[in-house]
Amino acid sequence: MMSKLSTEEKAINLSQGYPDFPSSPELIALVNKAMKEGFNQYAPMPGIYSLREAISEKIEMLYGTSYDPETEITVTAGATQAIYTIITSLVQKDDEVIIFAPAYDCYDPTIRLNGGKTVELELKAPDFKVDWEEVKAAISEKTKMIIINTPHNPTGSVLSRQDMLTLQELVKDTKIIILSDEVYEHLIYDGLEHQSIARFPGLAERSFLVASFGKTFHSTGWKMGYCAGPVALMKEFRKVHQFNVFSVNHPVQKALATYLEDKEHYLSLPKFFQAKRDLFLDAIKDSKFSFTPSSGTYFQLLDFSGISKESDLELAKKWTREQKLASIPVSAFYNKRIDQKVLRFCFAKSDETLLRGAAILNAIE
Ligand SMILES: Cc1ncc(COP(=O)(O)O)c(C=O)c1O
Repeated sequence: MMSKLSTEEKAINLSQGYPDFPSSPELIALVNKAMKEGFNQYAPMPGIYSLREAISEKIEMLYGTSYDPETEITVTAGATQAIYTIITSLVQKDDEVIIFAPAYDCYDPTIRLNGGKTVELELKAPDFKVDWEEVKAAISEKTKMIIINTPHNPTGSVLSRQDMLTLQELVKDTKIIILSDEVYEHLIYDGLEHQSIARFPGLAERSFLVASFGKTFHSTGWKMGYCAGPVALMKEFRKVHQFNVFSVNHPVQKALATYLEDKEHYLSLPKFFQAKRDLFLDAIKDSKFSFTPSSGTYFQLLDFSGISKESDLELAKKWTREQKLASIPVSAFYNKRIDQKVLRFCFAKSDETLLRGAAILNAIE
């Protein structure tokens, strides 16, 4: 909605989460090559083997858990399809699924579409940490799944090792399944380490790890991602995947399998995006907004309570129209539309776009 308004108003668009700079020419050339070489027909249902193998090696190298490419990894049409398929394959009528709001927008509708009930717990400003006592109290006989997201959209907060150990302990003697949305795994800053579920054996054995090549390699329009999980869970997943999408883009899979061979393609990302975050935050340090630097993702929240008492939604619309700068009101990520007086800005933009956006923010009184 804000992107549409932004286009209509010819505003600088720091709302939707996608980069305004080109995808890697090397990766584009690899896709082109795969097309020319004739990889233009259906790929195998779970994805081409070489890509699944590359994914498996990457997860094991980074997080220490080994997933069998044959039975435990499936390539998907973006993380959104993986999330839809996971929920659809496991959540049934009256099952409860715990999510943490503000939350990425596809979780709740997919849970409800499958007859499940969303139990929405609140992450509270300013640090948006999980209150594990609240989680403990919310777990019931009906809890089928808990969805976590680290680094977190929209707040830029991350789960710590201690958070993950607490979660592991909480679900220990239950049948609860974890859906771990890790699409921003490579966008983490200030030397922090990404705490994937694949680092924790007691979690990995009951979890799906969801990732996105679109986010990682700034090519969100290609809609490519994957999920990894233990064989019994992946079996259920593939029953739905088979008829939900069957298989996904073949030439892009070919290209990604080769592109992943060079680890620098993803290991260099924290530095690249942290420089963008820092450029943006340095440029607005004397503005009237308050903020805590984002620890991950490519989003930065700005607190406008020192400037206006209007609702975040009204203000986001007003500033798109009048200031020609678009952002996202964080209340949109809560079912209860809780207004914490914060707006989300995407810093995955060219330096020039970021500086133009910052100049507008500095001028707001
Ligand atoms: C937390 C989160 N999960 C999943 C997705 C979807 O990723 P994809 O574009 O690969 O479907 C997004 C995209 O914004 C996201 O922010």
